[in-house]
Amino acid sequence: MDNSITEQDSEQTPVREVYISNGVAPEDVEQLLDMAAACGLFNEEELSTAEGMVWDCAYQGDSDACRFIQAKTNDPDGHTLAGFLCYGEIAQWPDSFELIGISVTPSLQRQGIGSAMLAEMQRQIETRGGQRILLETESGRSFEGSRRFYEANGYDQEDRFLKQFIPKDGSVVYRKDFESDAKGSESQ
Ligand SMILES: CC(C)(COP(=O)(O)OP(=O)(O)OC[C@H]1O[C@@H](n2cnc3c(N)ncnc32)[C@H](O)[C@@H]1OP(=O)(O)O)[C@@H](O)C(=O)NCCC(=O)NCCS
Repeated sequence: MDNSITEQDSEQTPVREVYISNGVAPEDVEQLLDMAAACGLFNEEELSTAEGMVWDCAYQGDSDACRFIQAKTNDPDGHTLAGFLCYGEIAQWPDSFELIGISVTPSLQRQGIGSAMLAEMQRQIETRGGQRILLETESGRSFEGSRRFYEANGYDQEDRFLKQFIPKDGSVVYRKDFESDAKGSESQ
């Protein structure tokens, strides 16, 4: 699979490459935590949880509960984080995975980076025999772009109650099933 995307940049650097990588190295931690703090997705408590997850992944490797995918630009002065995604298994629901968080640097949005990371996540999940991905996002207007993004990538809003995946108030659940007949067999 070709994991690279070519981006049009400023006048000085006409073309640069964005590539997808898996996992977190210790040298990635600072940029990941900065982006997680800047993207506005996490409250203080969630940020602290995210921080623990990033450090665990960096020093103990990915776990079933948490895997990272990163998008980076290959700049002359090094590798710069362009986006990240974090996902993991839903412990009480076999074959099901949760997209925990995704963010792309604002100046690089709408260039296919988020979709490329989702595609890599789906590829990995299917390789492990996973059947579906669920995620929780906000229902407010400020998250409309995110909802459009998931819809553009084949995710459907889940209106039924799922005992295995209960969103917090004001959130909506999106899901993508890899096989059309998978939906319906497991919800209550
Ligand atoms: C949501 C996010 C990850 C999308 O990443 P991205 O790299 O910009 O997305 P893509 O370029 O792959 O978008 C693919 C398609 O999704 C849709 N889409 C993406 N962002 C959209 C927006 N803001 N408004 C409407 N549609 C959007 C479009 O159909 C787009 O295709 P197009 O650009 O050809 O029209 C990014 O906007 C982001 O980091 N947002 C802030 C953090 C966030 O909201 N995370 C998700 C919270 S649950």
